[in-house]
Amino acid sequence: MADDFLRVFLLSLLQFPECSALSMISENIIRPMIEADMDQVLTVEQLCHRNPWSKAMFINELANPLSHIDLLWRGPCLAGFLCSWRVCQELSILNVATAPNQRRSGVARALLEQSLNRNMRTGLDCALLEVRPSNFAAIALYWSFGFREIDRRLRYYSDGEDALVMQLIPAGLIHPVKH
Ligand SMILES: CC(C)(COP(=O)(O)OP(=O)(O)OC[C@H]1O[C@@H](n2cnc3c(N)ncnc32)[C@H](O)[C@@H]1OP(=O)(O)O)[C@@H](O)C(=O)NCCC(=O)NCCS
Repeated sequence: MADDFLRVFLLSLLQFPECSALSMISENIIRPMIEADMDQVLTVEQLCHRNPWSKAMFINELANPLSHIDLLWRGPCLAGFLCSWRVCQELSILNVATAPNQRRSGVARALLEQSLNRNMRTGLDCALLEVRPSNFAAIALYWSFGFREIDRRLRYYSDGEDALVMQLIPAGLIHPVKH
């Protein structure tokens, strides 16, 4: 597992050597994913998750009219992405990932804020997501937006860890708490 992580990390440096330096001075650009973004999305995905989504899963999402994948770019560098499904008045957050070298610089916050506010403009009753109880970074992020735990799914993940179900009932435009 550590070897895999190192391999993907070194590969990302070789493929996108300009990312680290340029991304520091570039503004955030958020736009929908297209198929040509696949390699960079897969690199970030593999760096971020124990059981990363496959290329086929991303292709399915791109073909699904309910699904929306937002990418946040800093110059030529893909800093992170967020995948959500909109079903009637409910938004499900399925996947959020920030490249390790871009963390704690507001990438996930910007993506979540944009997604929630865009969906609220067309009416939103609630937003829902699942998260591992051990994922303190993600829980802190969601908490800062007002998501709260409403349920716990026992042994939900393939390694046996539970999932917390968190819900947000939006009351107006979203402005997360910044620390
Ligand atoms: C969780 C994750 C998406 C956060 O992305 P990020 O871009 O680093 O988050 P942001 O910089 O936008 O942080 C926004 C807020 O979230 C909270 N937060 C984020 N990372 C945190 C950490 N490591 N520890 C504590 N709080 C954290 C803080 O409240 C932070 O605000 P602050 O920096 O002003 O204190 C990122 O760590 C990641 O990709 N993890 C691996 C994939 C994953 O777990 N995805 C979520 C699955 S449910």
